[in-house]
Amino acid sequence: MDQFLNDLPKAELHLHLEGSLEPELMFALAERNSIVLPYSSVEQLRQAYDFANLQAFLDLYYQGAAVLQTEQDFYDLTWAYIERCKTENVIHTEPFFDPQTHTDRGIPFATVIKGISRALRDAESKYGISSGLIMCFLRHLSEEAAFDTLQQAEPYLDQIIGIGLDSSEQGNPPAKFERVFAKARDMGLLAVAHAGEEGPAQNVIDALDILKVDRIDHGVRAIDDPELIKRLAAEKIALTVCPLSNTRLKVFDDMSQHNILQMLEQGVKVTVNSDDPAYFGGYLTENFIALEKELGMTRAQAIELARNSFEYSFAKKERKAELLAELDRHCVAR
Ligand code: ADE
Ligand code: ZN
Repeated sequence: MDQFLNDLPKAELHLHLEGSLEPELMFALAERNSIVLPYSSVEQLRQAYDFANLQAFLDLYYQGAAVLQTEQDFYDLTWAYIERCKTENVIHTEPFFDPQTHTDRGIPFATVIKGISRALRDAESKYGISSGLIMCFLRHLSEEAAFDTLQQAEPYLDQIIGIGLDSSEQGNPPAKFERVFAKARDMGLLAVAHAGEEGPAQNVIDALDILKVDRIDHGVRAIDDPELIKRLAAEKIALTVCPLSNTRLKVFDDMSQHNILQMLEQGVKVTVNSDDPAYFGGYLTENFIALEKELGMTRAQAIELARNSFEYSFAKKERKAELLAELDRHCVAR
């Protein structure tokens, strides 16, 4: 089954590039950029990855991202993730990046996006992996700061498929970003938002009704509102669920408590994703394996989850048809 899950053609729709920064690369970039990390070794850094909640993780995640300085650093970060995609048969990916984590440290927006985009172009030309880049606003910062970021992105709109909203959910509800989301949508960008990760089901409703998002990131707390579950299923609103992230950040006590398969069986269009794999102990295949080992996910469910990842991706119609055909071919051949 592990090999089956690894080889299953998949799309990833919820992956923070900064969260794919492995400790080894973090140390290498620190050395290249003459930055001293507050850890003596890769092992010591990994030991610090024991999080009580989302905020405890975010504090380390922003600190780690400070080693990213040059265009080549952003290329290397993105390329390392693409190599994992290749190994795990992720044939389409829609990664997030957090420009404000870098521009607030004085790194130009251009440096960040040029490095990421070049790696994504190479992913397409060398491996045939398609992608769509999503720019997230940090919700602990102001709406004005988000507007400023959107303005900086304007020369690069051909390289960005949509906007997202991440960072600390508690105390930063969707309504805070109503106007900037409206503007971005007017500019032709698609929209997603983290909602119902640590925050209440109401945040999922508000992300849909106020921000008018096309997908919900996480959304697992929707389970607290049976009417919302019915609505998500009826309106075919996809959730990008991240099982290992949710257990590492104590959204669920352990994987046996996770509700992804329960939602799948209730008709919700859930997908599996890795969120911040360098911090949470596994990439996409590991997340699928955890569902199989600890929730008894069947092959049919795994295929349905993979199908959802293509169906609810932002890939263009023709590419989506290709992706789904690749899944069908793979499943018939087995
Ligand atoms: N940024 C990176 N990972 C995140 C997560 N799981 N929730 C909110 N913001 C994030
Ligand atoms: Zn996330």
